[in-house]
Amino acid sequence: MLCRRCKEKAEIYLKRHNTAFCSNCFRIYYSEQVKRNVKREKMFKPKDRILVVVSGGKDSMALWHILLKLGYNVTGMYINLGISAYSDRSQEVVEKFSQANNAPVIIKNIEKEYGFSIPALAREIRRSTCSLCGTIKRYLFNKVAQDGGFDAVATGHNLDDEAATLLGNVLSWQEGYLARQSPVLPSTHPKLVKKVKPLFTLTERENLAYVLFNGIEFIHEECPHALGASSILYKEILNKLEDESPGTKQRFLTNFYKKGRKFFEKYSEPVKLNECKICGQVTTSEICSFCRIRLMVEKKKADSILQEGDGFNL
Ligand code: FES
Ligand code: ZN
Repeated sequence: MLCRRCKEKAEIYLKRHNTAFCSNCFRIYYSEQVKRNVKREKMFKPKDRILVVVSGGKDSMALWHILLKLGYNVTGMYINLGISAYSDRSQEVVEKFSQANNAPVIIKNIEKEYGFSIPALAREIRRSTCSLCGTIKRYLFNKVAQDGGFDAVATGHNLDDEAATLLGNVLSWQEGYLARQSPVLPSTHPKLVKKVKPLFTLTERENLAYVLFNGIEFIHEECPHALGASSILYKEILNKLEDESPGTKQRFLTNFYKKGRKFFEKYSEPVKLNECKICGQVTTSEICSFCRIRLMVEKKKADSILQEGDGFNL
């Protein structure tokens, strides 16, 4: 098979576009998609400062690389969540990339900074690791972006992620989530930084091809806590549909944005946002969930010290 652009030997076939590219022309296709998404969805402007959320996985590493390559003012941000060897290996990948590409990066270590790892805390307060992890990550990315004066937070969500989220929301008719699902989550409060997903039209496979063709190192394994997540099942189902009918994922997502989302707009009532009484970050209640978690951790620590003291007095 030959590359559609240069007619050299093709290295990747994109069934949904019924087209094939050599690695060089694929890079051009990929970068055109990202440029178009950024521009068409008004994600950010050329001079804006972008905080890119990096996990060490293929999608976020591809995003970091392409935004740097396109000349955007980009800083990576990595959070070490204390998920055993997975976190250490992914931090290594991120640090190596940052050094090799002279790319600034902000690294946070939850255990060192706050005294708990995500899995240990999840066990302690009986919450699912993934939901706790999501709360903490959302809080920190926004806080770091806001404190650092960034204009947008960019994440590596791809077409498969977005289509799976949409399928999940449709299956349970989550009107509010359907109304808000978008490649751009605008800032609705001076302390909330805009969130953007420049890779939302590119598949996991295309991101994988991009990192491989560019020799970008990435962590191959998924977070061990992702196993059994419903999003994985939704992705498998969508992949089956895609095999039978190429382009299904893209049609499902883009036609939802074009034709479907408007029917849910009435469900996106603006939520009243407050500033957390402890840290000042945006929350829908009086104290944000991050500070509530920290208070819980402190209380647990104090209780265990008291218990030790009781034992000592006996
Ligand atoms: Fe958050 Fe896996 S990355 S629990
Ligand atoms: Zn707070």
